Amino acid sequence: MSKKTILVIGASRGIGAELVKILAKNSEHHIIACSRNLERMQENFAGLENVYPHALDLSSETVKSDLKQILSSVSQIDFMVNNAGLLINKPFESLTRSDIETSYAVNVISVMECVQAALPYMKNAHIVNISSMGGFQGSVKFPGLAAYSTSKAAVCSFTELFAEEYKDSKLTMNCLCLGAVQTEMLEEAFPGYEAPMGPDKMGEYIANFLLTGHNWMRGKIIPLSLSTP
Ligand SMILES: NC(=O)c1ccc[n+]([C@@H]2O[C@H](COP(=O)([O-])OP(=O)(O)OC[C@H]3O[C@@H](n4cnc5c(N)ncnc54)[C@H](OP(=O)(O)O)[C@@H]3O)[C@@H](O)[C@H]2O)c1
Repeated sequence: MSKKTILVIGASRGIGAELVKILAKNSEHHIIACSRNLERMQENFAGLENVYPHALDLSSETVKSDLKQILSSVSQIDFMVNNAGLLINKPFESLTRSDIETSYAVNVISVMECVQAALPYMKNAHIVNISSMGGFQGSVKFPGLAAYSTSKAAVCSFTELFAEEYKDSKLTMNCLCLGAVQTEMLEEAFPGYEAPMGPDKMGEYIANFLLTGHNWMRGKIIPLSLSTP
């Protein structure tokens, strides 16, 4: 197997951190890990010589040029995971414009802009977007998640639109809609809730899907949940 470069956005904790550790077990993988918290990534990935952490703030208006700068020394990207997410749990009437704007900046706009920044390096690549069951049409919905779940639904829609626009290329994009996973995001948003699986198990599924899923599907929105019917 030849060397593969993998870009993971949202890698400092939770599912993204586990995903990076799983992918790093293969020494042929060269992993670029991005999040705001550089120190935490450096601690998490200490000793993993094939992981390269970089600070990146997805809520910034300069996210696209910031990622271009990070990628300037890269020759090609083979796999990309848009895993970062921001969950605001608030009654609909209390949502501020800033809550909605930040949710969309991190969960939607940055996904599109990070893909734009990475495109020049991707000729034959699998891009996996991480959405939520809350953004999956027809699934059970939860109160308080209007900003979060609508933004995750936009990620599903973007996946289908990208797949159509790039159908004659070797770029494949798919979207995984996750159910509950026991992470800091879940604990902060729903204190005391116990999810049926941990981030290591979900990270393992995402890693396998990332490396192989494009051989079977493109532009697909896939529900992946033990918790949500
Ligand atoms: N856990 C669940 O039950 C669940 C269910 C459905 C879907 N999901 C989705 O799965 C993905 C991972 O979730 P998780 O539970 O592992 O969440 P998490 O523990 O909160 O981790 C989120 C990651 O996103 C990064 N991030 C957030 N805001 C960012 C920003 N402005 N700029 C750069 N990075 C940012 C965080 O890094 P920094 O803070 O260092 O920036 C962190 O690495 C998310 O997209 C989430 O919506 C999770």
